Amino acid sequence: IIMDGNGRWARRRFLPRLEGPRQGAKSVRRTVEFARRTGIEILTLYAFSTENWQRPKTEVIGLMNLLAQYLDSELEELHRNGICFRTIGEVGRLPARLMAKIEKARERTKTNRSMVLNIALSYGGRQDILKAAVRLAHAISSGEVAEDSVTEELFGDLLETRGLRDPDLLIRTGGELRISNFLLWQAAYTELYFTPALWPDFDEETFTQAIEAYQQRQRRFGMISDQIETGGRVP
Ligand code: IPE
Ligand code: IPE
Ligand code: MG
Repeated sequence: IIMDGNGRWARRRFLPRLEGPRQGAKSVRRTVEFARRTGIEILTLYAFSTENWQRPKTEVIGLMNLLAQYLDSELEELHRNGICFRTIGEVGRLPARLMAKIEKARERTKTNRSMVLNIALSYGGRQDILKAAVRLAHAISSGEVAEDSVTEELFGDLLETRGLRDPDLLIRTGGELRISNFLLWQAAYTELYFTPALWPDFDEETFTQAIEAYQQRQRRFGMISDQIETGGRVP
């Protein structure tokens, strides 16, 4: 989920922008709980993009503080509910205090199996792909990997999402019709769902609408309907 529309939520109420993400933390709580109860196995939330570092410093600091507060207040609840906490993105660029909290959350919840909550933090799809490409180049030039053994699976394992399946559904709140550098490689065949609902207003009902829309789609992966209906066999 691309959790967009927090700033606008606040502006509409003549509140400071940061009131948006502060309220948005409640949406995160609701959404995580709803996803777990619905049986979603992996929930990835886009919390901060590589490009978001360009925002005014006060906003960046405010967002980092909110993330730290979220971890402080939610970690035990996540753990009680069997949720495994992970992150993708350049965690090393985050403030040391936040990095420590992330490490603690990861360590505490690493054996949990009911759902993976994956937070994209200082994440950019292009940067993810670039880093993987550099790693692959090293592996090839050192002879560790043969060029003709490079497959999509091998490349996928060099990305930050290694071990996680590609997303089935990508939801973006806030009404913008773009990907904003989210999971570019991983979303190659993901179903997209855009809702005008601002992130702090996103609730069980909006989430259900997105899932129901997803259930109406036919995922053809390049094939034709007949093939999908006969279970992949060419008629
Ligand atoms: C997205 O909400 C969340 C973050 C980048 C933290 P925005 O802050 O982009 O909200 P709008 O798009 O300005 O309304
Ligand atoms: C995308 O939202 C990133 C997150 C929700 C974390 P932005 O608000 O940063 O996206 P753009 O800049 O409008 O594309
Ligand atoms: Mg935005």
